[in-house]
Amino acid sequence: MHALAPQAAQRIERLIAAMTLTEKAGQLSMRAAGDVVTGPAQAQGLLSGIRSGAVGHVLNVLGSEVSPSAQTCHELQRVALEESRLGIPLIIALDVTHGYRTLFPVCLGEAGLLDEATWELSAREAAAEAAAAGISMTFAPMVDVSRDPRWGRGVEGAGEDPWVTSQFAAAKVRGFQGRDLANPQQVAAVAKHYLGYGAVTAGREYASVELSQRTLLEVHLPAFAAAIRAGVAGIMPGFHDLAGCPMTAHRHWLIEQLRGELGFKGVMVSDYNAIGELLQHGVAASLAECATLALRAGVDIDMMSGAYEQGLPEALERGWITEAQIDAAVRRVLTLKTRLGLLDDPYARGRDIESPEAITSRRALAREVAARSLVLLRHREDVLPLADPGGPICVLGPLADAPAQMRGPWPAACGPNEPISVLQALRELPWEIRHASGVDLDSEDTSRIPDALSLLPGARTVLLCLGEAALMSGEAASRARLDLPGAQRQLAEAVLDHAHGIPVIVVLFSGRPLTVGWLAGRVDALLAAWFPGSQAGPAIVDVLSGRVSPVGRTTVSWPREVGQVPVFFAQRPSGRPAGPQAGPFTSRYLDLPNEPLFPFGHGESYGSFKLTRLRVAPTVLRAHDIVEVWVEVLNEGRHPAEETIFVFTRDPVASVARPLLELRAVGHITLKPGEQESLHLSFPVSTLSFLDSTLTPVLEPGEIEVLAGPCAQRSRLLGQSVRILP
Ligand code: GLC
Repeated sequence: MHALAPQAAQRIERLIAAMTLTEKAGQLSMRAAGDVVTGPAQAQGLLSGIRSGAVGHVLNVLGSEVSPSAQTCHELQRVALEESRLGIPLIIALDVTHGYRTLFPVCLGEAGLLDEATWELSAREAAAEAAAAGISMTFAPMVDVSRDPRWGRGVEGAGEDPWVTSQFAAAKVRGFQGRDLANPQQVAAVAKHYLGYGAVTAGREYASVELSQRTLLEVHLPAFAAAIRAGVAGIMPGFHDLAGCPMTAHRHWLIEQLRGELGFKGVMVSDYNAIGELLQHGVAASLAECATLALRAGVDIDMMSGAYEQGLPEALERGWITEAQIDAAVRRVLTLKTRLGLLDDPYARGRDIESPEAITSRRALAREVAARSLVLLRHREDVLPLADPGGPICVLGPLADAPAQMRGPWPAACGPNEPISVLQALRELPWEIRHASGVDLDSEDTSRIPDALSLLPGARTVLLCLGEAALMSGEAASRARLDLPGAQRQLAEAVLDHAHGIPVIVVLFSGRPLTVGWLAGRVDALLAAWFPGSQAGPAIVDVLSGRVSPVGRTTVSWPREVGQVPVFFAQRPSGRPAGPQAGPFTSRYLDLPNEPLFPFGHGESYGSFKLTRLRVAPTVLRAHDIVEVWVEVLNEGRHPAEETIFVFTRDPVASVARPLLELRAVGHITLKPGEQESLHLSFPVSTLSFLDSTLTPVLEPGEIEVLAGPCAQRSRLLGQSVRILP
């Protein structure tokens, strides 16, 4: 983060010198406006708090029909500027995670584009739309690596791999913040939830996290380091305790690692009520103790708990903290407000109405990104794309006409009826449509299945829209089962039993991988849609009709059964690795294969791709070299399509056991039928360094396998060995 101009820094010092303790605590306190509820406690007395200087930031402002958000934000800003003693403007924050009003696909879906430029562009569009509504901070990107689909929040992140999540983190920070935070079309980004939150025990929300230092450093920290390198303005510690120490009070990871090792100079924002919840963690017996622990750990803003407002005076009086510590936090907060341009032009965000062209263009982008986020998990060549089906289409299932569900969790300002459903989009086409939901999303009632089946005779195609409700993932939405909710399986099996040769295409909406092996083997096509956002219906029809060829990949492995969890590609081999010839004394299950139902990177297209040749150069490497990889790809299919190629490495012998695969690069290539071309990818040798047994980064000499292919399935990769010289 660049230093402030001297006069701006002096203004901050003058403000700090003039502030009372209440006003200082106020700059360290964020209170909810309540237009959207994202936590257990609700604030009272927001305006009086702003007037007294006890509240310096507001979250969860959406406005209303009567008073749109920009107007509401400006009124809150006016109260702060004109009715408080020092007139310090507010930061107004909201969870803009995958769009503000125009929703893009949920992040786990967008991650599957594996395209940094698009990730950045959608964040820039979301920032512009949110800033036009008066928002100056988003609590995003969420960069928790998650390998446990029982946890509900994997939907908010970029999946199981630290390399993908790091690329995603940096792209999102660039998109939200731009080059100049004072630009009224940009917002401050807050990367969350530091550190290791994606590994909560048993996938249960808010539970403890037990991770080795190695896993924390190699898997969970890189994305935060990437966000910091990209200049992220804020970081949010997670709710969890890490090996017994709540992250909100974790001095080692917040001070020594984040502010020390990684040089983070921005603002740390607690999670919702998290400072006060140090009481429930059992590490504090009063709000003064909570405030002391959090401030000493470098947490600058107390979201919603009131611990700083109520606890800092006592903590100061008792000598548990110093005025200098309080001032340091206030200084970081006022520096961010200055960088946001709030002290110079507090009404800039929300002043200008966006043009119709900007809104139309954003909608078009949302449709394109949603189409590219869809993952074709299975398909029979002759079933898709659906040209004119030449006869009735049965559109069945509880998610065929469910606009509100298309938003996924964290819908921000997108209203429940704003997204376009699959049925609505299909009805725009000159096709004969028959529709029945058959079952509800999450009830055991099967009484309406016969009605749905009665639509089948004479149909040319069945489109079955199944999956989770939007709020079955996201925060406080862990699931112990990963199956279809309610009676949806009964509906699917009845349709499959009565289809009698009519092609059945399933569109699966979810915030996580589901255990659908029983379905994948029976349907003619299975499309994972995640939650595609505002343009869900048009995007799905674009792919089914062939206007857009499916390119999405899954950035999480899909378990066959929940008993396999955690299942992910970057596992270490063990001393008795399983394998076809390996015999009984190996790392395996008696009742399931080890392999996931769908591996990381899986996603089919309308092409049929073959990797014909791999070339890696140089084959003898030194520390500062770049590894160049060329892959010959042939499209043997009947349709033009885009293939995604991953480059992994495997370090077969090292001073510590290394993962079976590590992702180093990703590329895309579009080929016409019969076309063959070479895709070039590269990565620095320096990325092959790892932490030795003392957790010291080393680049060890020796053999490295370089592997390339369409997903993290070893049997589908071409490989070549290279050697690192001492
Ligand atoms: C929630 C979430 C966090 C969010 C915050 C504000 O509890 O954990 O991700 O940004 O509160 O809504």
